[in-house]
Amino acid sequence: MCGIIGYTGKRDVAPLLVQGLRRLEYRGYDSAGIAVAGGRRFEVRKEVGRVADLERTVEANLPGSTGIAHTRWATHGGVTKENAHPHLDNEGRIVVVHNGIIENMAPLKARLIAEGAIFRSETDSEILAHLIAHFYHGYGSFGDSIVPDIAGDPVEAVRLALSRVRGTWGIAVMFLDHPGMIIAARNGSPLVIGLGDGETFIASDPHALVPYTRRVMFMADGELAQLDASGVQTWRLDGGAHTPSIETLEEEWGDGEQGDFPHFMLKEIHEQPEALRQCLSGRVLVEEGAAKLGGLDLSPRELVDISRVTLLGCGTSYHACLVGAMAIEQLARIPATAEIASEFRHRNPVIDPHGLHFAVSQSGETADTLGAVKEIQRKGGRVMGAVNVVGSSIARSCGRGVYLHSGPEMAVASTKAYSNMVAALYLFTLQLARTTHLSAHAGREFAEHLQAIPSLVEQYLADPGPIDEAVRWVCESKVTFFLGRGLSASVAAEGALKLMEVSYIPSIAYPSGEMKHGPIALLEKGSPVICIAPDDALKAKTASNLQECRARGARIILVHTAGDPIAELGDVSIPVPATLEWFTPLLTVLPLQLLAYKAGLALGRDIDRPRNLAKSVTVE
Ligand code: F6R
Repeated sequence: MCGIIGYTGKRDVAPLLVQGLRRLEYRGYDSAGIAVAGGRRFEVRKEVGRVADLERTVEANLPGSTGIAHTRWATHGGVTKENAHPHLDNEGRIVVVHNGIIENMAPLKARLIAEGAIFRSETDSEILAHLIAHFYHGYGSFGDSIVPDIAGDPVEAVRLALSRVRGTWGIAVMFLDHPGMIIAARNGSPLVIGLGDGETFIASDPHALVPYTRRVMFMADGELAQLDASGVQTWRLDGGAHTPSIETLEEEWGDGEQGDFPHFMLKEIHEQPEALRQCLSGRVLVEEGAAKLGGLDLSPRELVDISRVTLLGCGTSYHACLVGAMAIEQLARIPATAEIASEFRHRNPVIDPHGLHFAVSQSGETADTLGAVKEIQRKGGRVMGAVNVVGSSIARSCGRGVYLHSGPEMAVASTKAYSNMVAALYLFTLQLARTTHLSAHAGREFAEHLQAIPSLVEQYLADPGPIDEAVRWVCESKVTFFLGRGLSASVAAEGALKLMEVSYIPSIAYPSGEMKHGPIALLEKGSPVICIAPDDALKAKTASNLQECRARGARIILVHTAGDPIAELGDVSIPVPATLEWFTPLLTVLPLQLLAYKAGLALGRDIDRPRNLAKSVTVE
């Protein structure tokens, strides 16, 4: 979703901002813009479409060494040049970029218009430029409250403006009167300050800073910062000084570059064996038939006292939670459920103080998952993160947890992060189950098979089977069905989501036993039904449901365990290597990822940045 990059120092800022925006592109956006503090006015350039389109409008000789830039994912107002950020106040002396949402937009805007503010966009964000200008120019009270005379003080002007705003923000602001200075503030939308030698950066995502510095300060909610080339000063919005600690960004394995692959999605599918190795490395104790997740910091005594486990996530991450919950409940014999974070947080959930919650997220910034974390914490519950992005808001809010170590995931459609979420939840399952019901022998078998998964993933990807024929049928269809039972029902849901987001083909996933209770009405002659039926205890039942579909003219694309005679039931049969029943999701998901990728490719879709989607969903 929306991205921010800002810089103050000695360098030529315009190309640096454009490069920063390129590194934020993966988050998803629909327009982009920059503002450079050069001379007697701000130079603002905006464009609808790609950063490459913006780059063409940014002159090579745009002078200035302080600037802010933004990629916008539309919320208030359509995708237009006027609505793209940055936004200026009436006189063009204050310029703002904003991530987040202003909830009390209507009364603020009405009052500002009454005072003479001229709005040039339909956005909520433009309010900030006018509101900050109101206080900066010393126009006094806004509404009923009396305000101190702070005219000409940029920090206080931002502070007073934000005290009138309800909602979420990550903002960067420049004042023409204060060249070389950027004011930043955070509440609910992430911001990280980068510290260089005689230069300072601000960004919504550390990924934008990596080419320049690894020394960073993560801003917390309710913080305000003043940046200039010599460094940074920070305060709490409600008063008082505050100094966040300086951290060093970890070298993540893998890089954010596409390499020889035509798309990030394909690259990331093929990175899964290595990503899984990184996730499992040092955490599987084969001899003891156990697992160790140091970041949870839970003793066996504390583990055994856990009364229930609740896993929360959105989209693909929720699908990983479904697999994890099933494994935990069946192996540790503790009630475990998966919850869609956006539903959970708003339904006044009962929080068991002896329960354990996991917030599962690739980005660590998903607003709904973060909201659920806060709700759990407010009710006295324990919540840990299962997060990929180190230092992200969810990781920091939870304090404890397990990092996924997938490496940077740039394609909007999640692939390798899903696999690592599932693997991380299996590790937790093993750690927990060994304190409850799982014997050392069974634990060893589990650990050995888990350890072997990366090689099996590699083996499958080297010979993925007849995907192309399946792609042809799927691309011809009005709607595609995904069926599976048990763990495979979650994989079916993930397969349908992936196909839908990358190819835009309507796709429906159902536990296969449910098909006859309604969705079967949609089947027509030739409808593709993708059935996930690995060699597990439910296979025979899935096979019956598959026959019901076939009897109604469906074409069956069957994902099955290599060597299993069930292959005969598929019109196209795709074998995956054999493994323990528990780990089948890590293998059966692979052909579904490739199917989505190849269908998107065949239909000419924007694979890595599908329409309307964002990588990091920072609005509710
Ligand atoms: C699908 C996809 C989304 C995300 C969801 C949660 O491919 O990527 O469904 O899984 O938006 O995002 P995170 O995991 O960052 O919380």
